[in-house]
Amino acid sequence: MTHKEATKQSLMKKHLTEEVKKKLAGVVTPSGFTLAQAINSGLVNEDSSVGVYAGDEHSYVLFAPLFDPIIEEYHGGYKKEDTHSADLDATKLVADSVDPDGSFVVSTRIRVGRNLKGIPFAPAISAEQRREVERRVVDSLSKFDGDLKGMYYPLAGMDEATRQQLVADHFLFKKGDRFLEAAGANREWPESRGIFHSADKRFLVWVNEEDELRIISMQEGGNVREVFSRLARAIEMLQRQLQFAYTEHLGYLSSCPTNLGTAMRASVHVKLPKLGKNEAKLKRICNELKLSLRGIDGEHSDSKGSVYDISNKQRLGISEVDAVNLLIRGVGTLIMLEKCED
Ligand code: ARG
Repeated sequence: MTHKEATKQSLMKKHLTEEVKKKLAGVVTPSGFTLAQAINSGLVNEDSSVGVYAGDEHSYVLFAPLFDPIIEEYHGGYKKEDTHSADLDATKLVADSVDPDGSFVVSTRIRVGRNLKGIPFAPAISAEQRREVERRVVDSLSKFDGDLKGMYYPLAGMDEATRQQLVADHFLFKKGDRFLEAAGANREWPESRGIFHSADKRFLVWVNEEDELRIISMQEGGNVREVFSRLARAIEMLQRQLQFAYTEHLGYLSSCPTNLGTAMRASVHVKLPKLGKNEAKLKRICNELKLSLRGIDGEHSDSKGSVYDISNKQRLGISEVDAVNLLIRGVGTLIMLEKCED
């Protein structure tokens, strides 16, 4: 499975017309972010599918002539006048588990991205502001108790063996890829980056990666209701202390326009040895079910031992509950098809 399609042009290239270029030429956001910075990742990485990053909340307003058509196309026709609303009520999920038999789903993970209101995003944040984010987030997390109580581990100074183990176990992020590098999101790496996790590692927060916060809930097996309600509880606790960048139109604001809205990726690692024999077909089925298919070592990775990472595709203009319900139903269908295959 390869995601590199160098011949396909990015949404950025498609929508950056001469007219748009002219309109946005002198535009600078209050944090000093320019069009040149917004499109750099897509220019440097010709295999980008999207190719733009926002430097701050204002980017979505000031660079709207470029961002709006990209958002509309990526998010399935989402229009300028459309509004987004959140719903994190776990009682509305249609099932407890994505895999009632417990024989296909290895693990379940849901993450959301968040950025602090009023502070530039990773591509434009200053070293001082990044430190401030870390301080505020870690301070809020230090008040968590019960099963959410945990410790913060700064990346700077972490010993190499611990770091590699956390990455291999899918708990920790690596240095940003070449897309983030060109977006300016890796500056001063690894300063002010780190990971918080609860004792059982079912609740984690990544600090200052692609977004200022990635709030993660995960566990072995398919009990998505537990995973989702833990996440909802943690988000609510954080929201009592921190204000996140959010608009009615775009939902939670993220540095990459693909994550706007819920900023949520709900995923399972699922064993599909039979369907996996024809990956092109599996991909088509996932598409029809509105699900994304990945390998298990993160974005742009390959499958290992017929285990796939399956997640919700739509993030904007859908509530968290509805997106997870789509995953529950879709994975249910995949498991049924896997059982029928011979
Ligand atoms: N900028 C990259 C592209 O356009 C990645 C987009 C989605 N991935 C992400 N981690 N935000 O292909």
